[in-house]
Amino acid sequence: MTNSSILILAGDGIGPEVMTEVHKVIDWMSSARGITFDVSEDLVGGAAYDAHGTPLHDDTMERAQSADAVLLGAVGGPKYDDLDFSVKPERGLLRLRKEMDLYANLRPAQCFDALADFSSLKKDVVAGLDIMIVRELTSGIYFGEPRGIITEGNERIGINTQRYTESEIARVARSAFELARKRGNKVCSMEKANVMESGVLWRQVVNEVHAAEYSDVELSHMYADAGAMQLCRWPKQFDVIVTDNLFGDLLSDAAAMLTGSLGMLPSASLGAPMANGRPKALYEPVHGSAPDIAGQGKANPIACILSFAMALRYSFDLGDEADRVEAAVEKVLADGLRTADLIGAEGQSPISTAEMGEAIVAALDASL
Ligand code: IPM
Ligand code: MG
Repeated sequence: MTNSSILILAGDGIGPEVMTEVHKVIDWMSSARGITFDVSEDLVGGAAYDAHGTPLHDDTMERAQSADAVLLGAVGGPKYDDLDFSVKPERGLLRLRKEMDLYANLRPAQCFDALADFSSLKKDVVAGLDIMIVRELTSGIYFGEPRGIITEGNERIGINTQRYTESEIARVARSAFELARKRGNKVCSMEKANVMESGVLWRQVVNEVHAAEYSDVELSHMYADAGAMQLCRWPKQFDVIVTDNLFGDLLSDAAAMLTGSLGMLPSASLGAPMANGRPKALYEPVHGSAPDIAGQGKANPIACILSFAMALRYSFDLGDEADRVEAAVEKVLADGLRTADLIGAEGQSPISTAEMGEAIVAALDASL
């Protein structure tokens, strides 16, 4: 049906093994639904460094720029800890985000019914939870200048700079308001306007965009530390949370844990529309490369499979197929299938990465 291209960058650690399961779902879309993608693969992170001496080859960057969607596994690992900062695996991912200008990072935190008992919070706090964190992804302290480690007198000084322009704030605020309109129509913006000028500007600009274009959406503001506390106290008060790059990094990990496991959560990083009207887009699980369990068939492929579902929804306008994949995940969980990360203290036995992928494909078959 489509001539849509997907560039797969499996990366490091558990990246390749969870991506193997995504391939099964992509193949199923083609064989069972007639929806085919032009899939190609390349290296990123440590894998790219090992092959080319850089965590992202220029050719790969170019291919990512022209793909309809990029699907990324994970980057990093202890093997690369001592590398110079400029060639660390994470720089590959950051370069993709920056050069593709993927400013809106959508990180849903959804609690599947079958896992409500598994959260470290009480069941009634998390059951039915469905929130969306919109994290600014291309600016802030991750990219601000000056940065570095300098020496003054006898002292070394580590420097990073938080910097936001009003247009950077406005565009991510718009993404959050647009999403809210399709969900619960509520946005909570988080910053530290009590201590940071960038936070003061953030709050002003969010208010301006709201007043001018989105006054139908309910808007509130919270200091990010209080927001973290409220996320643990009663997360269901939130619908869409919009926040900066660093706070979004922290808050999304915290929100992820509410749902039971980091192994469950997908993300989409979206930029401006391309010539074909589709947004520049990269999809990746929120979890990292988990080097401690890499290569053992223990990893949970669900976050990566759900990231592909987000690609179906946001890049390919195939929301019904995305629903189908999400329902298949819900079904295998309801059937009691669990990878190791979803096993509590008392002895249920886990299934492997491949078994989870196959169970999801079987549930997709059953959905027809
Ligand atoms: C994330 C990760 C990344 C980040 C790292 C791997 C660079 O923690 O996507 O949340 O800090 O943004
Ligand atoms: Mg993170």
